[in-house]
Amino acid sequence: MSILIKNGTVVTAAETYIADVYVEEEKIVAIGKALSYTADIIIDATGKMIFPGGIDPHVHLDMPFMGTYSSDDYETGTRAALFGGTTMVIDFILQTQGDTLYNALNTWQKKSKGKAVGDYSYHMAVTDFNDDVAKEVVQFITEEGISSFKTFMAYKGALMIDDGQMVQLMKVVKEHGGLVTVHATNGDMIDSLVAKNKALGNTAPLYHYLSQPEVTEAEASARFTDMLAYTDCPGYIVHMTCEGALNAVRRSTLRNQKIFVETCIQYLMLDASLYENDFEGAKWVMSPPLREKKDQEALWSGINQGLIQTVGTDHCPFMWEQKKMGKNDFSKIPNGHPAIEHRMELLFSEGVHKGKISLNKFVEVSATNAAKIFGMYPKKGTIAIGSDADLVIFDPQKEHEISSKTHHMNCDYSGYEGQKVTGKVSTVLLRGKIAIQDEKCHLKPGFGKFIKRKTTTKII
Ligand code: URP
Ligand code: ZN
Ligand code: ZN
Repeated sequence: MSILIKNGTVVTAAETYIADVYVEEEKIVAIGKALSYTADIIIDATGKMIFPGGIDPHVHLDMPFMGTYSSDDYETGTRAALFGGTTMVIDFILQTQGDTLYNALNTWQKKSKGKAVGDYSYHMAVTDFNDDVAKEVVQFITEEGISSFKTFMAYKGALMIDDGQMVQLMKVVKEHGGLVTVHATNGDMIDSLVAKNKALGNTAPLYHYLSQPEVTEAEASARFTDMLAYTDCPGYIVHMTCEGALNAVRRSTLRNQKIFVETCIQYLMLDASLYENDFEGAKWVMSPPLREKKDQEALWSGINQGLIQTVGTDHCPFMWEQKKMGKNDFSKIPNGHPAIEHRMELLFSEGVHKGKISLNKFVEVSATNAAKIFGMYPKKGTIAIGSDADLVIFDPQKEHEISSKTHHMNCDYSGYEGQKVTGKVSTVLLRGKIAIQDEKCHLKPGFGKFIKRKTTTKII
């Protein structure tokens, strides 16, 4: 099977140029002007851009959470991702407290194997650290190709570890060349604010937001960077939302720490005024919550300053009926929103089209940096000879509107309903096969492969 893409504008994190791209089996074989290969399929990409397949480093598929499960599974979630140009996702395995990492890995393998349409990997969330778990951490890095370990500084009683466990985990991970990632918010502070609001009879989604002020994230982010400095471990803060947390990282760079930051598309696009719409605000109940306009400005600047390396989604969708579990109590609204499908188009439209980031920065934060940080580069995340032929052919002029009536995520509302977007995915290749064309998915469940990752964090 061979594909020749003619006359597209190839965009990588470093360059933009017009060329043909020739693909054979799973790989990119040649890039150049007027290539003369005969191919099974020829695609004319004149006037279009060619990006590396997007990598979403933060998704939750079929995840047990807050008494229910996220509504996209591996089939619907990775297929929706492909429609939006994301060819690979990194999901989170959750260790059950008191149980082993390997039992959790087996559970997630059953969820994904034979079901994933697009490629995937896992971060391993360590929710209960001890000497036996330490041995498993080493095995995950050396044998399983899973080199990033997620920690939670919130969700006490289910997912949170304490600072002592955090430091011990960092020491092991550092020694074996992995990376510790974190949900950095101060769980105890949040729990006490939640309890106070409930005692006052404050039940609406707005109080979810008011129970997680900026300081809860800024404090935990600073504490995490201090623990990283102490252990000399590389770290990655997920879903950063605000100026205070970004400044904690800015300060930590004075110590030359290896620290990476992810923000998510919703924190760049949406703000906390959405919580003022009574229970409608439940659509955007997520942790951390949406913030202020000044935080959005800080995040865009952080991207351009190189303090923020990736833009993910934290895709964790729930049906409206599931959100209603918190109709009379904001603390029972399952946290998360649907976004896996629209990350690339929203980032292009709001970022590149509106002039907030360059085209090359767009590729860097939507694909290349995630591949580098999480040990998959240059197999994934770039357009180069020998790389996987994960390619997005993108029409930068096409205007469209986001709606739950047309999206492919298994969620009966959209957090971006009616949002007008400039730029649309037209064709997607995954490992040399046409995945998306003519608004249809051409791959079957089971095509998606688990991608084993290396330990390198080759970015700074
Ligand atoms: O609200 C969120 N973010 N839900 C998913 C779990 C997490 O904290 O990432
Ligand atoms: Zn989180
Ligand atoms: Zn998450």
